[in-house]
Amino acid sequence: MSNSKQIEICENDHVFVLTGAGVSAESGLATFRGAGGLWEGERVEDVASPGGWKRDPERVWRFYSMRRKAALLAEPNPAHAALAKLEHKLGERYFLCTQNVDDLHERAGSRNLVHMHGELFQSCCDSCTREPFTDKRIFCQTKAEQLRCECGGHIRPNIVWFGEVPFHMDRIIEELHRCTVMLVVGTSGVVQPAASFVHWANERYTGGSAVVRTYYVGPEHPANAEAFTRVFQGKAGEVLPHLFAVL
Ligand code: OAD
Repeated sequence: MSNSKQIEICENDHVFVLTGAGVSAESGLATFRGAGGLWEGERVEDVASPGGWKRDPERVWRFYSMRRKAALLAEPNPAHAALAKLEHKLGERYFLCTQNVDDLHERAGSRNLVHMHGELFQSCCDSCTREPFTDKRIFCQTKAEQLRCECGGHIRPNIVWFGEVPFHMDRIIEELHRCTVMLVVGTSGVVQPAASFVHWANERYTGGSAVVRTYYVGPEHPANAEAFTRVFQGKAGEVLPHLFAVL
């Protein structure tokens, strides 16, 4: 356990960052859980599950249109900027996995990242294997023909819903095997498999007496807080800009 107010990153370290909705909270985007959260007004099964999509695609599109609108108006905050700066310093020794579907990490300058739960500004077909495509449309009312794919299927948001397999898992596992430092920011630690990444990192033996150092940043302790080497309590936009000492 270190008492330092900073995370020291040495020349041999590989840093794995996992972010959740909390990293975008200071940009004005709602998190999922808790008062005012996205799941407070909606049932997950209605707007974020294959069953909900089958029952009422218009409702699903209204929900993601509202989120597209909010994300278009939002700007990256100092937490996104601090992570982009860290990537700039570490290059290939840095990897970012976000559960967020907004594009604020990219807009702050992050490049080496994957969106494990999909991307808000992409759509795909629910029937054929066409590549996901950029789509910034916002629907107040959807008409069936607007959402028809050439194959006859329906165009849906390219988002991973409950019951579906997260994207990029091969790459994520590869990076989990490489990392010596894990930093988790702004996630409640209840949604799998992301909530287990810290446990997977803790089980990894890095050689000699070294273990992976695991850190959490957020205003509250997440459900898996016990698994971290250290919790830095505070808002991401206030903590991250001063957190890293790259040696
Ligand atoms: P949650 O809404 O579950 O948790 C957000 C976390 O952010 C909470 O622990 C807050 O304490 C923290 N937080 C709030 N403000 C913050 C700030 N300024 N700085 C840092 N942290 C802050 O969101 P996630 O854990 O990201 O999945 O949710 C995980 C997944 O569940 C989402 O990707 C989504 C959802 O259902 C899908 O839609 C598939």
